[in-house]
Amino acid sequence: MNIVIASDHAAVALKIELFNHIQGSGHTITDYGVDEGQKGDYPLIAAKLAKAVGADFERGILLCGTGIGMSISANRFPHIRAALCHDDYTARMSRQHNDSNVLVMGGRTTGVEVAKSIVDVWLDTPFEGGRHATRLALIEQLFI
Ligand code: RB5
Repeated sequence: MNIVIASDHAAVALKIELFNHIQGSGHTITDYGVDEGQKGDYPLIAAKLAKAVGADFERGILLCGTGIGMSISANRFPHIRAALCHDDYTARMSRQHNDSNVLVMGGRTTGVEVAKSIVDVWLDTPFEGGRHATRLALIEQLFI
């Protein structure tokens, strides 16, 4: 899978860990910054990544301090279904029921090993379709 990852300054260390983890798992991963020592405003970073998901990448991963600012920002784009996940269960559900195409986590709230596990579950879990596809179609109709 072709994946893009980005973070603000509050989650750079987690981004580097996850980049290496994903690269080692056979997926293609691109880093949209920020780099170590840089600062970045989460709306700008989320917008850059959101525009690329669906166009240049199948999925995206966004990280900030809590994950909240990145979630709020990314979900302003109609084609983005960004899910703030804290454990394997929410990651799995966000794929099975919501077909999430952006995974969001907090560098100040989620430990590295938990985050790696969340990523693995999120990348491996397919969308179930059926009644869940009907609900996603409702989102498309109602929130344009
Ligand atoms: C940056 O200090 C912090 O506000 C940001 O990373 C994020 O947690 C916002 O939601």
